[in-house]
Amino acid sequence: MVEVMKSGLKLRDSLRLIRNFKTTGTITPSSTKLTERLLASIDFSETLVIAELGPGNGCITRAILDRMNKDSILLCLEVNQDFASELRAIDDSRLRVYNSCASSMQGALDEIGVAKLDHIVSSLPLALIDGDLLSSILASAQSNLKDGGRFLQYQYSLANYWDMKPIFSDIKLKFTLRNMPPAFVYDCLK
Ligand SMILES: C[S@@+](CC[C@H](N)C(=O)[O-])C[C@H]1O[C@@H](n2cnc3c(N)ncnc32)[C@H](O)[C@@H]1O
Repeated sequence: MVEVMKSGLKLRDSLRLIRNFKTTGTITPSSTKLTERLLASIDFSETLVIAELGPGNGCITRAILDRMNKDSILLCLEVNQDFASELRAIDDSRLRVYNSCASSMQGALDEIGVAKLDHIVSSLPLALIDGDLLSSILASAQSNLKDGGRFLQYQYSLANYWDMKPIFSDIKLKFTLRNMPPAFVYDCLK
């Protein structure tokens, strides 16, 4: 029974991703393996302020909350109103959900009175985002990160490698076949 309910929820998530393909760029939520790879370089024993860009149905959001300590904060920026409403239903005082564009990280930080982010976790569909907006999101990510902070992003190709390379001091690439479709992880260090 539980398995049937789980597969029903997965189907519903996939249908929503397909319906909004222009802004989601995918047809299935990220796998557990991809999520593990994406979050692997974060030291969750520290108290952190993390921004998640494009949280969608919250599969990565929940994994971050599971790992964070009780004093950490997670800011989620999601343009899709339905996804944002669902994320707000997650009962966790460490989570702040903004139904707004990823480029408005600064406003979210001002609201909570924090100067800089420790890390940014992004599943934005970079290849589908207009060039000017993409530049503004990446510039905002870079300027709102602490020195030594990480910008962690996955993508199904390396299409946007050269947009990130000039603005971070180092990029490590990882790859996993265990996602649909297989995905690269960019681990970018400020
Ligand atoms: C590939 S889906 C990722 C969903 C989920 N995090 C996952 O990994 O399965 C991309 C998400 O980014 C959101 N998105 C697209 N452009 C955005 C933007 N400019 N600002 C914030 N969210 C955006 C979409 O609505 C969608 O929920």
